[in-house]
Amino acid sequence: MQDFYIFAKNFHINKAIIRRDGYIYQSLIAFFMTGTGNSYTVARWCAQVAETTGIGSQLVQIKAGEKRGAVPSRSLAVFTYPTHGFTAPWLIMKYIWCLPNGRNLHAIVLPTRAGIRIKGAFFPGLEGTAGYLIAFLLWLRGYHVQGVMGVDMPSNWTALHWGLSKQNAAVIIEMAQSKVKGMLQTVLAGNKHYDGMVQLLVGIALAKVSLMYLIMAQFILAKLFFASDKCNGCSLCQSICPKKALKMVGRQGRPYWTFSCDSCMACMNYCPQKAIEVSPFIITLFYYIATVPVFAYAMSYAAGGDALQWGISLGLGFGIQYGYTLAAIALAYGLLHVALGSRIIRAIAAKLSHTHYFRRYQASNVSLKDIHLHK
Ligand SMILES: Cc1cc2nc3c(=O)[nH]c(=O)nc-3n(C[C@H](O)[C@H](O)[C@H](O)COP(=O)(O)O)c2cc1C
Repeated sequence: MQDFYIFAKNFHINKAIIRRDGYIYQSLIAFFMTGTGNSYTVARWCAQVAETTGIGSQLVQIKAGEKRGAVPSRSLAVFTYPTHGFTAPWLIMKYIWCLPNGRNLHAIVLPTRAGIRIKGAFFPGLEGTAGYLIAFLLWLRGYHVQGVMGVDMPSNWTALHWGLSKQNAAVIIEMAQSKVKGMLQTVLAGNKHYDGMVQLLVGIALAKVSLMYLIMAQFILAKLFFASDKCNGCSLCQSICPKKALKMVGRQGRPYWTFSCDSCMACMNYCPQKAIEVSPFIITLFYYIATVPVFAYAMSYAAGGDALQWGISLGLGFGIQYGYTLAAIALAYGLLHVALGSRIIRAIAAKLSHTHYFRRYQASNVSLKDIHLHK
């Protein structure tokens, strides 16, 4: 049996909220997983609403290896985290799965997603199954989910696009804040709030893409990062990584991304030297390596065989292709890392990277001490 501790035993409770159905809240625990501070911001808004109504609140960060705790009775648990690949990241799924039984406690689920604003036009993100998958896991763990809502926050995927300007980010954040606070007040008053049914249907249609993201793409994405010649080996990227997925290697202490990386973007966006890049040449190289059809060779053994032989070959084929792709990419990345030991090669690779010309993104009014460097 795992040894759970109870979160926030020492709340200074001034008041309790009695919902119209008689259910009582005395505190709010906001669990958040974050890369660049968006989901932390949402958690903080929830805590502010709790404080203004007089009930206690606590923020709990979800990171690799973090202690899990039981939510105290008469608490509302909030779960907020980024959407990755139109679904929820592994870390939050694993965390919820390992929580102690919710004993019918209430919970709400607030995945954040990529809001984009260009020249006054706003484009919402696509959370797909990110919200309802976690709601389902919470229900399996004994929670009563009172609300699910995707929250558009400024997109942080700066490996793909330039970071939003401060003005565009501020407009998106203002819209999100009133949405989150409104939703929370609805739930505290005793109503349920389920949003995003269309998102869920699209998410189900894209389930294959999400699955491919979780079992393959995120491992490939992890291996696209490298440190340019601007890196001074300060190792901040390593210390702030919520998955402990970075190693500093070599004499100069250059960061090396392992497969545990979730591409949360903390390292890239908080690097004080703006030294972390992603190169289209590495993407192209990995594309060619990953698509060597080892699977087809395995399948050719099944030709002319019976259904069982086909089934076995198909399973084996997928297994072989999967193992091959990961092993080949790990090896190619290792070799690339050795080549990037040369400062000149690092400088050229950086100049040829699209991200070299991109603005980075960090949630406003969030410090590293708030999210990644606190004890
Ligand atoms: C690797 C990666 C994948 C993402 N996938 C999606 C997605 O499928 N849909 C979406 O709306 N946003 C997506 N985003 C955007 C983030 O979910 C969004 O910016 C989030 O608010 C970041 O929160 P954080 O700062 O708390 O980490 C993705 C971001 C990254 C880095």
